[in-house]
Amino acid sequence: MSAKKRCLMMGAGGMAGGWIRRFFPNFTDRMEIVGLVDIKREPLDASGDFLGLPAERRFMDSQSAFDAVEADFCTIVTPPDVHKEAVMLAVDRGMDILSEKPIADTWEACVDIYRAVMGAGVKMQVVQNYRYESRILTLKKALDEGRVGRPNYIMGRFAADYRKRGAWGAFRHEIPHALLVEGAVHHFDQLRNLSGADCQLITGWEWNPDHPSFDGECCALFSMRMANDVKAVYEGSCLAAGWQNNWHREYYRVECENGVLTVDKDDIVRVLEHTGGGAVRMEELQPVKPEWAGHSQIIKDFLDWLDGGPEPATALSDNIKSAAMLFGAVDASETGRCVDVAAKAAIES
Ligand SMILES: NC(=O)c1ccc[n+]([C@@H]2O[C@H](COP(=O)([O-])OP(=O)(O)OC[C@H]3O[C@@H](n4cnc5c(N)ncnc54)[C@H](O)[C@@H]3O)[C@@H](O)[C@H]2O)c1
Repeated sequence: MSAKKRCLMMGAGGMAGGWIRRFFPNFTDRMEIVGLVDIKREPLDASGDFLGLPAERRFMDSQSAFDAVEADFCTIVTPPDVHKEAVMLAVDRGMDILSEKPIADTWEACVDIYRAVMGAGVKMQVVQNYRYESRILTLKKALDEGRVGRPNYIMGRFAADYRKRGAWGAFRHEIPHALLVEGAVHHFDQLRNLSGADCQLITGWEWNPDHPSFDGECCALFSMRMANDVKAVYEGSCLAAGWQNNWHREYYRVECENGVLTVDKDDIVRVLEHTGGGAVRMEELQPVKPEWAGHSQIIKDFLDWLDGGPEPATALSDNIKSAAMLFGAVDASETGRCVDVAAKAAIES
């Protein structure tokens, strides 16, 4: 195995605290954090102490960190509006990048990032951890095996009770397109994963029914057609007052030619078939148990890629198509039209 990869870590609190304490420790034989950046002193010192990083490796601005630290890659776990700044600094130094979703907070920033990364030839992977959960791997396996035939259409639902301001982390209650930018990008990516195709067309709405918990849009209903003609519908709400399908408990129902596959908040993947004469067969599928799941699978794929392995499924070249769905949905809602996502994702270098 090659030498340990050195990581410059952008973000020390919030989700970054989870990366530092729970995800990266699974790979201490392959990588180490050699520099840490956060604009807030408290999380910087708490995570810096946890890592045993000396004071001169802790930074309160990214420019000084990139100037001072030699690293092989940079990990970005900061809010979406500051992703571009970090990506550009990494690209300038030819550093590879592992970034939390979404690529950025606007389509213009996503395109700038895409052009810069592709132009420089550095590697960039975007975190789509939900593809690698046991429940989704189980559902995907049944689909790939054709358990109930070809998929016809998919229903996806995310519903969380964030009616109290701050319940979803402060910044999400203040930004525009909150549900789409911070939430639906996961679910749109999942619809690509489950359907096995990229999105061609999207139409629908995002809105806020004047709820004081959010400044931006926090509800969404979108309908889409994928490149293989599978259709999908997405329902998302941050104001769910009843049945919850919160993080890791989203609802997916895949209607196939011979039956239906579902997963709901109880995490069980079920197959239901009408076998004729009114008979119904229902089976609970054995969960797939991966060695690594979620973020850890993403990190493993990234480190393998840096070591000469294959390009991961959620590399920037692929993930730009999930970002195009997200910002295509914003356009669709603003214009009341059906948006050509495939054309949007075809970025000229
Ligand atoms: N994949 C997932 O399951 C998942 C879950 C939660 C969050 N996220 C993503 O992680 C990212 C961070 O989200 P969060 O909830 O941790 O946000 P957060 O607001 O808690 O911020 C994380 C940390 O970044 C720091 N920070 C802010 N601006 C910075 C800058 N310019 N430079 C350095 N540090 C800065 C903050 O002080 C904070 O300590 C977002 O992109 C979000 O979408 C992903």
